[in-house]
Amino acid sequence: MPSNNFGQIQQPFYTEDQRKEIARVRQALKVHMAKAKPKRYAHSLSVAKTATSLALMYDVDPYLACCAGLLHDWEKVFDNDQQIASAHELGIDLGVDLSLVGNLLHGPLAARRLPAVFPELPSAVWQAIARHTMGAIDMMPLDMVVFVADGIEPLRAKTPSLERIRHRVGKVSLTSLYWESFVGGIIYVLQGGRYLYPGTLEIYNALVLRHLPNLG
Ligand SMILES: [Fe+2]
Ligand SMILES: [Fe+2]
Repeated sequence: MPSNNFGQIQQPFYTEDQRKEIARVRQALKVHMAKAKPKRYAHSLSVAKTATSLALMYDVDPYLACCAGLLHDWEKVFDNDQQIASAHELGIDLGVDLSLVGNLLHGPLAARRLPAVFPELPSAVWQAIARHTMGAIDMMPLDMVVFVADGIEPLRAKTPSLERIRHRVGKVSLTSLYWESFVGGIIYVLQGGRYLYPGTLEIYNALVLRHLPNLG
């Protein structure tokens, strides 16, 4: 029984087929990532667990959240140059030199590649994975669950800003958690003196105009 990290224990109901599919996805992830990137593998399992807990809390499908969490960093097995080369091959165009946004590519890349590996999973899973690196203006609840879980899973550092979001889980709306996580990501980029993808700024401004900062 998965227990979440926020003081509540809930049990997702999975059908027999869903249970089998989760086991298949977990095994595929293990083969793909466990030896090559053990920390990334542990992170992926932790995101899946956190996403499942958030899904149960915010009335999102826990099966889809679990699968998306497991697979969200699939392309991180490959190094930055390989991801950029793959993005060029697949014609992924973010409107800027892809070498500037190498860390954003693994979401869209996985969303393009994995449907052929797991054809039984629905497009909602691929959308959530595609959006976990950049966010979007029109995030669906599943997209937000995966985005937030990726940021706050318990293996990540206990920084004040992450702890603040973790403590607000279950007390504020999912959209509010997404807003805080999204802005936290921007602050991290700015504080590190890194390149800020213009598309991120566009999303930020659109969310401000939708009054997301004022949500409870
Ligand atoms: Fe990621
Ligand atoms: Fe991640």
